[in-house]
Amino acid sequence: MAHSGVSAAAHMDAIYRYQRYIYDASRKYYLLGRDGLLDELAPPPGGTVLEVACGTGRNLIKAARRYPGVRFYGFDISKAMLDTARVAIARKGLSDRIVVAEADAADFSSEQLFGVPAFDRVFISYALSMIPPWRGALGQALGAVAPGGRLHIVDFGQQQGYPRWLKAGLRAWLAKFSVEPRAELEAELRKIAAESGASLDFHRMFRDYAHRAVLIKP
Ligand SMILES: C[S@@+](CC[C@H](N)C(=O)[O-])C[C@H]1O[C@@H](n2cnc3c(N)ncnc32)[C@H](O)[C@@H]1O
Repeated sequence: MAHSGVSAAAHMDAIYRYQRYIYDASRKYYLLGRDGLLDELAPPPGGTVLEVACGTGRNLIKAARRYPGVRFYGFDISKAMLDTARVAIARKGLSDRIVVAEADAADFSSEQLFGVPAFDRVFISYALSMIPPWRGALGQALGAVAPGGRLHIVDFGQQQGYPRWLKAGLRAWLAKFSVEPRAELEAELRKIAAESGASLDFHRMFRDYAHRAVLIKP
């Protein structure tokens, strides 16, 4: 299992080298709740938004179309995914409003990457389940939120409402892509909220298929 640094980047590139060509078409059927997160983002006019682990840029493109006048930034550890994102962003004519860069969610500086120290909104969509040091990535993401700003998260839940065979099948299939739903995500978010004075809104969706959370920074 790869962890942070070069090996994590190579691992993600190996997973997505060919998957990226069918990523947007296939993932719409099972990365549920992403559009709901984008609806809730509601950045202030003229504001800034960062996506941690932006993949093909699918979310950034949808959000940029939905919220004109807002500047969008994203980064990912996979060069292959970023190649796809850059082509998609240019094709949609959004290169002036969406900037993407290569970085590790567990160790990044948005100031160094983009010259932006903090954002009105930061979001992480179906990536904490692929990042072994996910607690560190959460802390880093919250650190990039401006005072009064929000961190939005969507990711796989624990599928408590599913038959055991279905849950086991889903977990085995996700594991092939190095995806591990984080059973302790809610507890970790509650701890962070208590320690930082942030307020937390946590939802289970689709019978616990996925979790969506919003942390509002004081
Ligand atoms: C399932 S995809 C989600 C992409 C996008 N957020 C979405 O919702 O479509 C997970 C992404 O996380 C990226 N990733 C995995 N580990 C990472 C890390 N340590 N730092 C940054 N990105 C990472 C992968 O390269 C991949 O693009």
